[in-house]
Amino acid sequence: SPKPIIAPSILASDFGKLASECQRIIGHGADWLHIDIMDGHFVPNITIGAPVVTCIRPAIEKTADGKGIFDCHMMVAKPEQWISDFAKAGGDLYCFHYEATENPRECIKLVHDSGMKAGIAIKPDTPADVLYSILDDTSDPDYYPDMVLVMTVEPGFGGQKFQERCMPKVTALRDRYPEMDIEVDGGLGPSTIGVAAEAGANVIVAGTAVFGAPDPKEVITILKETVQK
Ligand code: DX5
Ligand code: ZN
Repeated sequence: SPKPIIAPSILASDFGKLASECQRIIGHGADWLHIDIMDGHFVPNITIGAPVVTCIRPAIEKTADGKGIFDCHMMVAKPEQWISDFAKAGGDLYCFHYEATENPRECIKLVHDSGMKAGIAIKPDTPADVLYSILDDTSDPDYYPDMVLVMTVEPGFGGQKFQERCMPKVTALRDRYPEMDIEVDGGLGPSTIGVAAEAGANVIVAGTAVFGAPDPKEVITILKETVQK
């Protein structure tokens, strides 16, 4: 199955020193940076937009082994609207919400046309099987997502409790798509990683658990080793 990837959510970092926080956490062994984009419409909160991503991009090197990827989690209404801005800003993966668009397949194609990889996210109450028609159709890679994100909290805020009830969706997706990158996001840390890894998630987002830890490197190591097992 796909390799473990740890993607700390910078939402839990000190935005006053964002670029150096990003560098620090990569230095502690993080693979990707998970960047939470909220527009105050799709979710009841606002974070940052493409101009901020542009400013932190030069601070983070992308390496051949896949470190330094900017994983942009787009908690926005009308995700089609921001694709070109995030491509220009240096986004690598543009993960939009299934619930936010009329035409997810078309959105995947637009993301690919921009040069980014495409992810598709579902909220805790959205069943996994809404994705099956998209994921079963391998006829055209332009329309095929590079990752699926199963939210394990209601999107909008960091620091919420992990919802274990979402794990059957991860299990079902892993059984059906053994090679797919499956990301989980929300409330993950050393005490919840076990069930998520067991269910088959391989891309692990963690905000509070990493940035709030006295030793972020230790937390990243625990998360990675648990997924690897
Ligand atoms: C929630 C965000 C998450 C969040 C994760 O809307 O999508 O990425 O920042 O933070 P923790 O790990 O603190 O739940
Ligand atoms: Zn997120």
